[in-house]
Amino acid sequence: MAQDKREFKLAPSILSSDFSILGQQIKEAEKGGAKVLHIDVMDGRFVPNFTFGALLVKTIRKCSDMFYDCHLMVERPYDFIDAFYKAGADNITVHYEALGDETGKALEYIRSLGIKAGLSISPDTPVEVIAPYKDKVDMVLIMSVYPGFGGQKFIPKSLERIAAVREMTKDYDVDIEVDGGVYDENIKTVVDAGANVIVAGSAVFGKENIAQAAKALIEAATNE
Ligand code: DX5
Ligand code: ZN
Repeated sequence: MAQDKREFKLAPSILSSDFSILGQQIKEAEKGGAKVLHIDVMDGRFVPNFTFGALLVKTIRKCSDMFYDCHLMVERPYDFIDAFYKAGADNITVHYEALGDETGKALEYIRSLGIKAGLSISPDTPVEVIAPYKDKVDMVLIMSVYPGFGGQKFIPKSLERIAAVREMTKDYDVDIEVDGGVYDENIKTVVDAGANVIVAGSAVFGKENIAQAAKALIEAATNE
């Protein structure tokens, strides 16, 4: 990610894309101003849904120079870090709920590969669990829906969780990413709460004109 951790970045999630024309749709999102591509990896065990593996990242790596942000919603993240790194991930985000006491080690390992490390917490996990890893992460991903599916409603209590994590990490060079249920109507509220990286699946790839949808979201997020 760019050095300024307060810089706004839209991260369209390919979970809502048309996989039969994924390369084309990625280029559309980039044309609309997206800097980050959010890649939702699910194993059918950590979450009740299954998406894709590192092979997909390898395949789409040639489509764009966007920052590939891999969100591993998997029971055994350790098993997949190398594969996603080799496939071309720029960031790998792992879930605290899958790692527990192994979280620090996993984050250190991701960074040892020379890519960015992210830590994600699901809606029912206390934000305090982030505290011991403030100097080990480049990004904290706060889930504003229960992980597993796109198109869900933003969970309102997420706003205070975002503010709390922004406060907790204010002296650290950390992006705050929010994932789930963000649309034109609420993106500014989410950014004002303290998020600077916004994942949007339905609100971008779910739309007819992807570039226009991305552009409109960025405008809505950054308008003073
Ligand atoms: C859930 C996924 C979704 C997705 C975004 O596990 O991580 O949050 O990327 O979905 P939308 O933007 O459609 O709510
Ligand atoms: Zn995600």
